[in-house]
Order: sequence, then C-alpha cells, then structure tokens
Amino acid sequence: MASALPTSFPAEVVPQAPEDPLFGLMAAYRADTSPNKVDLGIGAYRDDNAKPWVLPVVKKADEIIRNDPEANHEYLPIAGLAALTSKAAELVLGASSPALAEKRVASFQAISGTGALHLGALFLAKFYKIAGANRTVYFSSPTWANHHQIFTNVGLPIASYPYFDKATRGLDFEGMKAALRDAPEGSIVLLHACAHNPTGVDPSPEQWAELAALLKEKRHFPFFDTAYQGFASGDLDRDAGAIRLFVEAGFELIVAQSFAKNFGLYGERAGCFHYVAAPSPDAAETKTRVASQLAILQRSEISNPPIYGAKVASIILNDPALFAEWQDNLRTMSGRIIDMRKQLRGKLEELGTPGTWNHITNQIGMFSFTGLTEPQVLKLREDYHIYMTKNGRISMAGLNSRNVEYVAKAVDKVVRETQ
Ligand code: LMR
Repeated sequence: MASALPTSFPAEVVPQAPEDPLFGLMAAYRADTSPNKVDLGIGAYRDDNAKPWVLPVVKKADEIIRNDPEANHEYLPIAGLAALTSKAAELVLGASSPALAEKRVASFQAISGTGALHLGALFLAKFYKIAGANRTVYFSSPTWANHHQIFTNVGLPIASYPYFDKATRGLDFEGMKAALRDAPEGSIVLLHACAHNPTGVDPSPEQWAELAALLKEKRHFPFFDTAYQGFASGDLDRDAGAIRLFVEAGFELIVAQSFAKNFGLYGERAGCFHYVAAPSPDAAETKTRVASQLAILQRSEISNPPIYGAKVASIILNDPALFAEWQDNLRTMSGRIIDMRKQLRGKLEELGTPGTWNHITNQIGMFSFTGLTEPQVLKLREDYHIYMTKNGRISMAGLNSRNVEYVAKAVDKVVRETQ
C-alpha cells in the first residue's frame, strides 16, 4: 500500500467536540431501561401517555396529500411554497397588517426555526453594515443553546443581556433594559416572541411596549424567534402580540418562524423566514432587493426547501375548517401543559417541598426553569431516572397524569437531601 499522507485535520485543528447536550440527553433517556423513566428533556409535545401526538388536523392534511392525484415530488421554488409563506406571514403579522398591504414583507420557507435563524444570521453577516451600526447580536441570558452556534458560525460577534432573575424566577426587566441601553447603537437583539426557551418567562405586554421604545431609541435591530405561536397561550393572536407591536412601531425586522411545535411537525423541518421593511415610500423596493439576495443565499445553502411539511401546514392554513380544527388542537396541547403546571406546583406545595413553586404556574409554554441546581438535576437522573437539562429546565410536556406525582416526590426528596 502506498504510504498515506498525514491528515489535514489533526486534533489541534479539529479537536473532539462535545456531544450536543440535548440530543445526548435524549440518547441517554432512550438507553435507560427503567420502567419509571421520565423524559423532561427535549422540547417536544407528548400526550398523557407520554407518546408523541400527531395532531388530528395534521392527519387530515396528510390524507389530502396522499389522495391528491396531482401530487408529485417536483422542486419547490427557491423561496418555497407560496401558498404556505403568504399564509405564514399573515399568521405571524396578522392578516390586516399594513406591512402586508404595503408589500414590504419578504417571506421564505426555511428548514424550520433553525434554518430561518441561520438564513437571517447569514443575511445579517453579509449585509448588516450601515455606518455606525454594531454587528454584535445580543441574546437573553440564558437563551436556547443553539442561538450561540448559529450566529457564531456566520462570524457575528455575540453578547448577552440579563433576562432571568434567579431570586424571583421571573424576568430581570431592569437588568435587561439597562444592558440594551448600554449596548452600542444599532446592535442586533434576538428576542423570543413568546414562551421563552429555556425559562418560560415572557415580558408582559406593557414591558414589550417599553422594550420597543427602548430599541427604537437605540436603533437596535430586532430579530424575533417564534417557535411557539398558539402553543404558549392557545391563542395565535396573543402569542404573536410582541412581533405585531414591533411591526406597528415601524421597525425593520426579521422573524424566524418554526412550525415544529405548533403543528407537531418536528422532523419535517417546516418553517418560514420573514423580513419586514420599515414603512417608507421605498419600502417595497427595499423588500424586493433584500429578497433577491435572500434567494441567492437560500439557493447556495439548500437550493429549495422540503415539500412535505410545507404542504401539510399550507393545507391547514388555507382551509378555514381545518384552521379552526388546528386552533382546537393547539388549545388541547397548551391546555394540557397548563394543567400539568398546576398539578406539579400543587403537589410540591402539598409535600411542603422547601422553596417556592409559584414560578411553575407563572411561567408559560413548553418549558419551566425550575431553579433546580445541576447536582440536583444529576441526582434526579441517577436515583430516579428523571431526565432534564443541566440548567434545571423541564419540558412540561413530558409530565402526565401518571408520572407527575412520581416527579414531584422525587424532586421533594432531592431538594431536601441537597439543602
Ligand atoms: C428544545 O429546546 O428542547 C427544542 O427546541 C429542541 C431543540 O432543537 O433544541
């Protein structure tokens, strides 16, 4: 055999990277053979039997696709399925949004929320260069871990603003405002539209209004991540309130929209990216130029987006009866989660578990930031086969009427033992 050349990727150049913590946790849970095991890790909805739930309305849309004699596997356009992207924009901005009437919204189908975030990050890395603007992206502390990687990978500097107040387990609103006030003018600010991941803590409508005024004064660029519209409160309009407020306030902004959670289309990677130009006489022209560059980025990254999940979501968004049924499915999911919040808090309070637990019902959406420490989290895993991320985040959807008592008792014991 001819002597092989040394690798171009030695360890000092390509060091061994750690496994993704969340997907590592998922694998550890799957490998656990205990009958008592509980998965509170990955943010994916489960029904009361701890099983993934295919939304009944999604089953209907799937049936429609299967029975369509015209269905094929052709390429979508670069910007994706127009019947989806137009309705997706209405969903997030409101059908009567002036931004839509004034044709200043560019919408692209994306590989779920992650792909939409990436497309936005890539666009900003390439084009966000106006004089005096700061290219640093500010994230809440904490934020969804993947935000760091997505923006760092395209070369944008990142920083953080305070968000979670450990003492109240609510919002550190003063800290957040102070940091955003101190951030250099024109910074990019990543905001979770609702159901903040990982904390479950959202600003109130009044606080959002204050934030909009502050960001405007500082000429910051808002970048919304919306992965839980309709899933958080059960009300699609309410969960889009923050984004609509910013659009009404006249911002130029970006929205990354995921359909993983609210349609239960996790693995189908359905989502959209929206760019909204600020109102001005040349807004539509700006939008057209921006869209032309986004098309080039999209083409070089994925050519064109995948079709199945897009068709499912589009069928539902375009049919009034299916849309109404979807809203009902959303209320089923959010309602069960709200009920689990009440039960978990109630049981911990009944047990007299040291500490306060009102934050569990105050927080909203898929997650609760419990305040459990890393040693407590590890003990829950080792002694009770209960899996959650090290930061004490639990996916509320992993709780159900059969395991909530087991989890509450385990938390009670571990909290007492580690006090
Ligand atoms: C989560 O935070 O658990 C979800 O958003 C899944 C993911 O991709 O991280």
